[in-house]
Amino acid sequence: MSDSEFSDKSILRSWHKNAAPWIRAIGEGDIASRKLVTDGAIVDAVLQRQPATVLDIGCGEGWLARALAERGPEVWGIDAVPELIGAAQHRAGPRERYRPLSYEALAAGEMRRRFDLLVCNFSLLGGESVEGIFAASGKLLNPGGHLVVQTLHPMVTCGDADYRDGWRPGSWAGFSGDFSEPAPWYFRTLESWLRLVRRAGLRLEEMKEPLHPETGKPASLILVATPIL
Ligand SMILES: C[S@@+](CC[C@H](N)C(=O)[O-])C[C@H]1O[C@@H](n2cnc3c(N)ncnc32)[C@H](O)[C@@H]1O
Repeated sequence: MSDSEFSDKSILRSWHKNAAPWIRAIGEGDIASRKLVTDGAIVDAVLQRQPATVLDIGCGEGWLARALAERGPEVWGIDAVPELIGAAQHRAGPRERYRPLSYEALAAGEMRRRFDLLVCNFSLLGGESVEGIFAASGKLLNPGGHLVVQTLHPMVTCGDADYRDGWRPGSWAGFSGDFSEPAPWYFRTLESWLRLVRRAGLRLEEMKEPLHPETGKPASLILVATPIL
């Protein structure tokens, strides 16, 4: 993994730096599209599959794991940033478990358990690290399990740049001034997301584009995939 300005490592450097303002922003419901659309959309997409066990990959301060665990499943959360995992642990209920773990370590087999469902909510932002998660998903899932990914919608977030895969500079526009050093992110076209699914030996079971009620545009893209038997 390179340590250039545009790399998986620089994404993590940014999250280490911005953990405290992120915990505050999520706690105070600062991201309007999450409250209006995407929080509910990911909770519904997961619960529809009725998993008994869930792994929240890149769980951050744990809001999704908490929301799911309150509704039934046992939920584990991993994230590479100890401050975020600490915040999640601090509020954890009896059906939640958290571990500081990077995607690279997860892909290398350090989680010696399988789950009914893996969920990644706006947490697959990088290059090789994301390919590693897709490739490892089969080994982390119980038979008949699902990988559920919510991410930025490629058509909506492409902007004026060419519609092709590649690193893009990050921005904290719309967030408080407490944030610094925005994380770069790896833009993927829809075709590229579907290729990731196929190459990982998964079959796309469902694709959703939850609409933002104010803009009428998709607030996100949700992919639900399951290992090919
Ligand atoms: C936009 S936040 C989303 C957090 C959470 N899923 C949510 O819905 O609020 C992205 C998260 O991915 C985590 N992350 C990014 N790259 C990672 C990596 N290589 N290994 C582990 N966690 C990573 C960050 O630490 C951060 O918590």
